[in-house]
Amino acid sequence: MSKSAPSLTNCENKKLPHQAMGHPHFHESACAQVSGTAVYVDDIEEIKGTLYAAPIMSRVAHGQIKNINTKLALDIPGVKGVLLSRDIRGDKKFSNFAHDEPIFAIDQVHYIGQVIGLVVADSVMKARKAAKLVECDITPLTHILSVEQAIRAKSFVLPPVYVKRGDSEKAIKKAAHIVSGQLRVGGQEHFYLEGQIAYAVPLEQSQWLIYSSTQHPGEAQHWVAHALGVELNAVKVECKRMGGAFGGKETQGGHLAVWASLAAHKFNCPVKMRLDRDEDFLITGKRHPFSYKYRAGFDGKGLLQGLDLIMASNCGFSADLSGPVADRAVFHVDNAYFLEDVSIASFRCKTHTQSHTAFRGFGGPQGMIVIEHIMGEIARTLSLDPLEVRNTNLYKHHLDGQRCVTHYHMTVEDNILEPLLKTLASSSNYKERRKEVSQWNSKNPLIKRGISITPVKFGISFTATLFNQAGALVNVYTDGSVQVNHGGTEMGQGLHTKVAQIVAGELGLTLDKIRVTATDTSKIPNASATAASSGFDLNGRAAQYAARQIKTNLAAFVCGLDQCGAGAVSFENSEIITPKRKRPFKEVVELAYANRIQLWSDGFYRTPKIHYDKTTLSGRPFYYFTYGAACTEVAIDTLTGESRVLKVDILQDVGKSINPAIDLGQIEGGFIQGMGWLTNEELVWNAQGHLSTHAPSTYKIPSVGDTPDHFVIDFWTQPNCEDNVFSSKAVGEPPFMLAISVFEALKEAISAAREDLVLDTKHIDLVAPATAENILKAIRASDF
Ligand code: MTE
Ligand code: HPA
Ligand code: MOS
Repeated sequence: MSKSAPSLTNCENKKLPHQAMGHPHFHESACAQVSGTAVYVDDIEEIKGTLYAAPIMSRVAHGQIKNINTKLALDIPGVKGVLLSRDIRGDKKFSNFAHDEPIFAIDQVHYIGQVIGLVVADSVMKARKAAKLVECDITPLTHILSVEQAIRAKSFVLPPVYVKRGDSEKAIKKAAHIVSGQLRVGGQEHFYLEGQIAYAVPLEQSQWLIYSSTQHPGEAQHWVAHALGVELNAVKVECKRMGGAFGGKETQGGHLAVWASLAAHKFNCPVKMRLDRDEDFLITGKRHPFSYKYRAGFDGKGLLQGLDLIMASNCGFSADLSGPVADRAVFHVDNAYFLEDVSIASFRCKTHTQSHTAFRGFGGPQGMIVIEHIMGEIARTLSLDPLEVRNTNLYKHHLDGQRCVTHYHMTVEDNILEPLLKTLASSSNYKERRKEVSQWNSKNPLIKRGISITPVKFGISFTATLFNQAGALVNVYTDGSVQVNHGGTEMGQGLHTKVAQIVAGELGLTLDKIRVTATDTSKIPNASATAASSGFDLNGRAAQYAARQIKTNLAAFVCGLDQCGAGAVSFENSEIITPKRKRPFKEVVELAYANRIQLWSDGFYRTPKIHYDKTTLSGRPFYYFTYGAACTEVAIDTLTGESRVLKVDILQDVGKSINPAIDLGQIEGGFIQGMGWLTNEELVWNAQGHLSTHAPSTYKIPSVGDTPDHFVIDFWTQPNCEDNVFSSKAVGEPPFMLAISVFEALKEAISAAREDLVLDTKHIDLVAPATAENILKAIRASDF
């Protein structure tokens, strides 16, 4: 079932002329990107008179604003003025779901970096320099930084959520063995290459054009309209592409759109606002850090019998997307395993930091990591192979009728975990290598190795059911060329390429005949965020439906010419074929136009089958699951705590891949990004609440040199058993969580190091990220 992922040696999509779908075509803008001609917001030719905005940021984590003195800033030549909360005549808060986030700090500040206002000037550098000269007199109030403090103070952005099945207390009491402990997992900076940016242009008659680097143009449009007091039809938001987003531009991009628009409104001229890297770190939200307390009962084989779990997410100062992120974490606490008697409490803690937001996996990684940790702890307690323990606890096939229903009452109907794990264990030679690792460890006192296989089962669909809808517009022009527009945004993930492929495939055309245009709220209204890995599932289907409608029109037309049934017409090799004749697509299009046949169509798709109850978190939130597994081998230096990922073997479920090259890139990138989260990417807030790691000098993302020498990626190619576009599966986020195998392998290596020191090897307390410091602490835990 597994197949090696393709390797590409040249850049010629044209070599695959007639097979648009299922082939490893290059990213539609790859050549423009590498040659520097691809346009990002900051590359858009500026309109004469454009001004630039820079943020005035709070230097206090929590405090009462007494006075803001802008004199020094205003004295700088070229500075046009300042915007503060009092300049906003309408609603002073962003029009988001929780309505708890001020556009500019109102009377209080809630974190260091919070935007108090803007300085607007005729150059970016002047605006930034002047913003630093604004004097904010703020009386400090007590601040909360940790989730422990927040829970004690009952400081929450949203009420706690409890999910329960069976009687975990009783099950744990009855169990032969118990493990209990705590786990702490850090946040993560998105570190997109293109920082947050928006360019707001006032048009005639109170209309607005906003160029925004956003995953959710529709929401940016909504927020801007609300802030400016105009109707949605007066605001058009456009996004050609983003230089990476990773969830960081699902809501945060909208903030810049509002800021730039308010400044443009005040000065009645175009305003651009771009954050520099330090500002971006300090202002925008990150992945939610999580803390856990758990108690698990299990039998002698490692079968989990009862689980009590408290999860606390650090949401920062406002709700933003924390509700759905924490919900997704609850939904993914099972990962691949059946939890029979389980009780989960999820706290959504309010702290005085940036408001944490979407980040690849969207709470899924934070849900899964704790159950994987528990699996490792169970195995170490019983001295069993952790893979055996994992296999023992896997969901069973639903046709067996048992152990196949999640803790939120959804039956797992597409389970491929068992064969997938078996295939990976064999292709990675896990058993043999585990022996070799153990032999290595017995001979080497300083460098210890560890190996681990962990699975992933990730739910596909937005948990908020209403977001699972999409629209597209396909235009065929009289020369036979095709333009596609859809509600999804391009952030490097290859969505436009895949959508172009599906349209080309439907119409029987080559890919070079299809162009995907910039995402634009005036073409497709009310589009959802491009998120939850569902961009292609939703927009690909909508575009496919639009193309099918055009096909229907053209087929009916040629049927009339050739006197045949519509079912006898096919679209292949750039031709439209009836039992009587083959005609070039272009020729039919010209003729059809002359006969007044509609050559364009919209398409609309909504995901079937899904539903769930928001209060009890039960139902079928996901249309299907994407699965995967990784086998990772690591080494640690027991004197310095340094670590390396030596070998990685991945088996990733992609369904029937629409573009294996792009899917491969998503798997590689997702894994490495996950590895960064769990190894070197450490966010440190000091006691005052200042994010000390606010630049690449102190915050380290993985580099090319951190990529393992042995990095083998295979596809599990079984088609999606649900009726999804091209029978493919979403692949954007799932591979991120394969990196949990790195964290588990590190704990195995730490356990080996502790064995030499004659310390307890059952419980490994490793804080994520596993920096050198945290690895050393975990090795010597009892000495500290
Ligand atoms: N890949 C690239 N190159 N850049 C990105 O910003 N974002 C990820 C993933 N892959 C991202 C990426 C996230 S968080 C999501 S939800 C999906 O892409 C979104 O796109 P899709 O739904 O089209 O897969
Ligand atoms: N995933 C990603 N983004 C989201 C979701 C989700 O489930 N819900 C709302 N925004
Ligand atoms: Mo992705 S975190 O759903 O943008």
